[in-house]
Amino acid sequence: MGLKLIWAQTPDGVIGLDNDLPWRIPEDLARFRRLTSGHPVVMGRRTWESLPEIYRPLPGRDNVVLTHDRGYDAPGAVVATSLDDALAVVGDRDAWVIGGGTLYADALTHADTVEVTIVDRATVGDTFAPVLDERRWVQTAHEPAEGWYSSVTEGTRYRFITYGHRPQSQPAVDPRLQAPHAVRCDWGRAGARAVAAGSDRIAVVVDVLTFTTTVAAACAAGIEVAPFRWHDPRAAGYAERESAVLAGSRSTGGPSLSPGSVRASGLSRLVLPSPNGATTALTIAATGAEVVAGSIRNADAVARWCAARLATDPHLVVGVVPAGEGWPDGAFRPSVEDLWGAGAVIEALRRHGVTDRSVEAEAARQAWLAVADDPVGALRESASGRELSERGWADDVVAAADLDADGVAPVLVDGWFRGRTPEAAGAAGPGGGTVA
Ligand SMILES: NC(=O)c1ccc[n+]([C@@H]2O[C@H](COP(=O)([O-])OP(=O)(O)OC[C@H]3O[C@@H](n4cnc5c(N)ncnc54)[C@H](OP(=O)(O)O)[C@@H]3O)[C@@H](O)[C@H]2O)c1
Repeated sequence: MGLKLIWAQTPDGVIGLDNDLPWRIPEDLARFRRLTSGHPVVMGRRTWESLPEIYRPLPGRDNVVLTHDRGYDAPGAVVATSLDDALAVVGDRDAWVIGGGTLYADALTHADTVEVTIVDRATVGDTFAPVLDERRWVQTAHEPAEGWYSSVTEGTRYRFITYGHRPQSQPAVDPRLQAPHAVRCDWGRAGARAVAAGSDRIAVVVDVLTFTTTVAAACAAGIEVAPFRWHDPRAAGYAERESAVLAGSRSTGGPSLSPGSVRASGLSRLVLPSPNGATTALTIAATGAEVVAGSIRNADAVARWCAARLATDPHLVVGVVPAGEGWPDGAFRPSVEDLWGAGAVIEALRRHGVTDRSVEAEAARQAWLAVADDPVGALRESASGRELSERGWADDVVAAADLDADGVAPVLVDGWFRGRTPEAAGAAGPGGGTVA
């Protein structure tokens, strides 16, 4: 029997939102139908329920639905209560696992092939594809040979990648992982998936103007901060349920992405949406990484917390991720202030004995050292700093450049950034350290 997984994802791993697909690409659905027809398809209960009733069960295929509920009724499908049960139903036939996120993660170790459609969209999601470990998986085919296909619906670009097992004779040497260094650095959500994804990673996300600066200031003031995706309509309901305040726009005068507004707020819990930093933090947290919000304001505290974690778990790797900005058309824009913030953390890691870094991490460190004598002046001159100052928020630029003003590491635990003192991080394990 061969077990194959098939999914469609955005470049940063989104596969679903509100138990639905966030896009419609008829060409991808046609390929899905062509590949899976005649074979058993195995799916999680939520994916089964997400199928329109007229397609349930998927025709021309034995449908197997996984649930822990022994009494679950899935008319036209076989119900299995464990992956082993499902594999027993499939027997020695070639079968496809067709979702969703929970099942892909569970079934990956049993699979010999993974078919991935990359959908070239930046979209909000709540379900993510597992990260394929480059030591085990290698691309065996891709279509088209160059560039992208364009869908008949809205011209959405997409392409297909097939992964198979990496032959043992061909060791994993994907240079983009920056292995074997303990400290790595790459940009944005795609870079985060390369250097900071997975349960053996600490992901230090850096968005100096101003998400992680605001988180640093908030956590130092004892405020818990829940990152939220930008323009996600569920943020208000979440804040209400969690007895938290939802940050608004700067002009309202209430808590916002302005660090000063948060420090002065007297709040205990804040839901803080942002387009880059928050979204990157959530995306990378979904891979199992320990996420820390790094900035110029807390570079030393973050580095000390990371160094303490590394001291107790030598398998951990620190991926420092300058979050970057977006151009108006949505394209990714590397922003120099995030490079400086990343470099400040990497330089502090060096001071605390974590010296094995990639050249990419070293480049960020050198970028920071070039401005470390006058971070305020440098930040004021940066494109983002000038933009913020021209909009009347020059104080935020000065606050963001205040090196080591905050003495706690904001660590994402159960969806909330909480201030952790570095000293106890090692002893307490993941997410550990005493609350500041
Ligand atoms: N982009 C794509 O290619 C693609 C493909 C498929 C789905 N999706 C999206 O993915 C999302 C759904 O994914 P999901 O992670 O939320 O749910 P899911 O994996 O479809 O279903 C999860 C449920 O399946 C059952 N289950 C999973 N593993 C099990 C196991 N080993 N033993 C017993 N039961 C097991 C459990 O059901 P019980 O709770 O009943 O116990 C679990 O709650 C939707 O947004 C959907 O649109 C995307």
